[in-house]
Amino acid sequence: MTPDPISLPEEFAGPLGLAQERLGIFAHRVLWYSEVGSTNDLAGTFAEKGADEGLVVLADRQTAGRGRLGRNWASPSGAGIYVSLVLRPSTAAAQLLTIAAGVAVTDGIAAATGLSTHVKWPNDVHVSGRKLAGILAEGAVGHVVLGIGINVQPAAYPPDVSARATSIEAELGRAVDRGLVLAECLVALAARYRALRENRVASIVDAWRMRAAPMLGRRIEWEAAGEHHTGVAENIDDDGSLIVKVGARTLRIRSGEVRWL
Ligand code: BTN
Repeated sequence: MTPDPISLPEEFAGPLGLAQERLGIFAHRVLWYSEVGSTNDLAGTFAEKGADEGLVVLADRQTAGRGRLGRNWASPSGAGIYVSLVLRPSTAAAQLLTIAAGVAVTDGIAAATGLSTHVKWPNDVHVSGRKLAGILAEGAVGHVVLGIGINVQPAAYPPDVSARATSIEAELGRAVDRGLVLAECLVALAARYRALRENRVASIVDAWRMRAAPMLGRRIEWEAAGEHHTGVAENIDDDGSLIVKVGARTLRIRSGEVRWL
């Protein structure tokens, strides 16, 4: 059984209403929950039942928020943005979706708050080496659920990860409007997704490269087939894979995780 949505609080309804004409495919249906397990799970259930592309599932709090690679995503009430979107991209568009989403989240945060952030491959959003937002794309036959978690307040993440995590308010030293951040991220994502569907891939890859500039040309490490590797992150390819130089060799990493040294 799926929980019943409740009416969208003014904190979100106001900014989303004002952005209505720029929200593109996300303008039609926003479902709000005060508490869910994971917005990605709920959006996946709706997608399987035939929900239209562009459905937005938003929660104040998640009790089982999920991150990439099976990790937990802390999701306390009021401290972050926890949102999942139902998309139905072509196979080609799906390949670059997380890259486009990373770019859109940096665009949206900058438009709403003025804070400049970077992307870290494949799609984490960072400021000064600390993670501020993450993206979890989960595909099934006929749809992709794109989940976005943004730390708005420092309370969004547990104190034991504070050396590696940050929030918009911690960076700016002032309170920000959570609804405006969500609205501007959805506006940016609608525009980047339109570009993907129209095969304007270069605009997305170029935007990603600009936002990843502080991370490129630096040494990274990763694990593959149980072995530890190091190299220099050079760029991303047009299919979104990370291009890494290892001595004289050039490798492409398609998925997984790398750490910047
Ligand atoms: C990451 O590990 O960087 C991805 C984090 C994604 C978290 C978001 S919060 C909304 C959506 N629901 C989830 O359970 N996860 C994603």
